[in-house]
Amino acid sequence: MKLLVTGGAGFIASNFIRYLRHQHPEDTIVNLDVLTYAGNLNSLTDIEASSDHYSFVKADITNTEDIHSVMRGGVDVMVNFAAESHVDRSILDPVVFVRTNVLGTQVLLDVARHYGVKKFVQVSTDEVYGTLDLHSPAFTETTPLQPNSPYSASKAAADLLVRAYHETFGLSVNITRCSNNYGPYQFPEKLIPLMIINALEDKPLPIYGDGLQIRDWLHVSDHCAGIDLVIRQGRNGEAYNIGGQNERTNLDIVRTVLKALGKSESLIQHVEDRPGHDRRYAIDATKIETELGWLPQYTFDRGIQETIEWYLGHRSWWESVRSGKYREYYDRQYGSRLESMRT
Ligand code: NAD
Ligand code: DAU
Repeated sequence: MKLLVTGGAGFIASNFIRYLRHQHPEDTIVNLDVLTYAGNLNSLTDIEASSDHYSFVKADITNTEDIHSVMRGGVDVMVNFAAESHVDRSILDPVVFVRTNVLGTQVLLDVARHYGVKKFVQVSTDEVYGTLDLHSPAFTETTPLQPNSPYSASKAAADLLVRAYHETFGLSVNITRCSNNYGPYQFPEKLIPLMIINALEDKPLPIYGDGLQIRDWLHVSDHCAGIDLVIRQGRNGEAYNIGGQNERTNLDIVRTVLKALGKSESLIQHVEDRPGHDRRYAIDATKIETELGWLPQYTFDRGIQETIEWYLGHRSWWESVRSGKYREYYDRQYGSRLESMRT
């Protein structure tokens, strides 16, 4: 099988490429990524060094001509991970989210259709379903889409385009919707790596609002296994939820990190809440479990321990991605929030 993996220099897709390399060494992978602030080829040095079934193309998914050029080499399956992925950035600057996540997906769908790919898989998110109360049942694949942030609205729009290309043009598609991923190579703007790194440096750990928001945490390698199953066995036109069976409050996560690092809870600082902050996400993954036999393999205790150890052992990776423009973002996002706590 020859797969075009978009966004392959990002967190989840770099893990996915590594997963494919181990599980299906006979497959050929083309990694297409424009290398935004979140794209990092240092996450793939082992793959680049060891494989002749792998190539990297620097290109933007909104650029039709570039995607055509890649497709002329022949591709069986397109897996679209490429996106602007961070909710806080979508609140600061929504435009690029619509451009990449909506327009980019539509460009890929058109090109996929033109070349008659065997399958198009869209990597989506549980955030398209909106938010849950504490006692509401978990999201299923038939829960209505009610996104609340510019990020989740752009992902929902992309999901609807994927559905439309299936219904209108008969393109073979699947959509996966997963909960919060964690694991190695995650950009340190996201909750878990941010908290690990700030704690290591004895910096404040900014918790939005009361910190009692709930997320379902999924180890990235369990997510990769789910996507792989959907690619190979997913029923045409279907969406599949993927979740970690692991609902935790943000405060619980941060306390777990502090304890593992032997740091004091006095580092925690409650700061101004995220506007439109979704209270709870929870995934009902019965469909992928019963149809495709997927189950998460990681317990959270094992996953978080391994993740903390990974960040401890890969200081040069995260120090390099935190330089330059990330500093500007960090100061814009947290500067006044943390400052207002001090005054
Ligand atoms: P990430 O931000 O770490 O990586 C995104 C990658 O996409 C980067 O390598 C970036 O360079 C690339 N990219 C961005 N714009 C591009 C463009 N126009 N053309 C080509 N490449 C472009 O993201 P992630 O956290 O790994 O998420 C991957 C996918 O999974 C996204 O679609 C996201 O919506 C979805 N998702 C993520 C999570 C999570 O917890 N991180 C959960 C559910 C779904
Ligand atoms: O649910 C899947 C989604 O998970 C993905 O679609 C997104 O791409 C991914 O970024 C993630 O979105 P979240 O907004 O849930 O993740 P984030 O790591 O930004 O935040 C997790 C929770 O922690 C959320 O309730 C906000 C809170 N938070 C986050 C940061 C960065 C804080 O309290 N403080 C922080 O500094």
